[in-house]
Amino acid sequence: MLNIAIDGPAGAGKSTIAKIVSKRLGILYLDTGAMYRSVALKALKEGIDTKDRLSLVKVADCIDICIKYRDNEQRIYLDKEDVSECIRTPEVSRAASDVAVVPEVRLKMVEIQRGIAAGNEVVMDGRDIGTYVLPNASLKIFLTASIEERAMRRYNEQKAKGITDIDLEEVKKDIELRDKNDSSRAFAPLSKAEDAVQIDTTKMTIEEVADKIISLVKRKI
Ligand code: C5P
Repeated sequence: MLNIAIDGPAGAGKSTIAKIVSKRLGILYLDTGAMYRSVALKALKEGIDTKDRLSLVKVADCIDICIKYRDNEQRIYLDKEDVSECIRTPEVSRAASDVAVVPEVRLKMVEIQRGIAAGNEVVMDGRDIGTYVLPNASLKIFLTASIEERAMRRYNEQKAKGITDIDLEEVKKDIELRDKNDSSRAFAPLSKAEDAVQIDTTKMTIEEVADKIISLVKRKI
């Protein structure tokens, strides 16, 4: 069963690349960040402080997260509502990084992720896929890019969505904070698996990165 793990810091291009690679290989794509974002959205909707661990454990206990695929694209449902778009705000990004620190939240998400990988060939992107979720993945990739490039990518993404009240320096600070949070947490932090191939995408086009991963997959199988 082909399982590809793509990890790396925010804005390194994981989801863009994972979508292309999964399409070219004809296998599923699972964006695990969307799951942590959904937990965060629920906490925010319920007015819960995203640093309040006990309340977050309760949220995770009764959360109903469901992944569906429409025209090969992942949609995520929170308590039966499609939240695929509204989990993309900067507020939810920050909150997701907070809720992702809580081991009980992670264990619940990992159970769903492993369940999907057990029944499907999949390209999964996240922070802990190669190190924790799929330690026996067929191929592990660790994508990086300079902080300036990653901030610029996120800034352009938001602009393309019609969001105009954003500041590049603020975007950069947000990313730095999330990276720090994600790398320093005790349980399943963001880190490169020993057997992962690291690709610095700073000066690469999307197609070049996808081609490189496809050639690594071909070498493996
Ligand atoms: O990838 P994305 O930016 O959507 O992820 C949102 C947040 O979810 C990350 O900043 C990180 O804190 C958390 N996350 C995680 N483990 C994953 C995927 C995402 O901790 N596998």
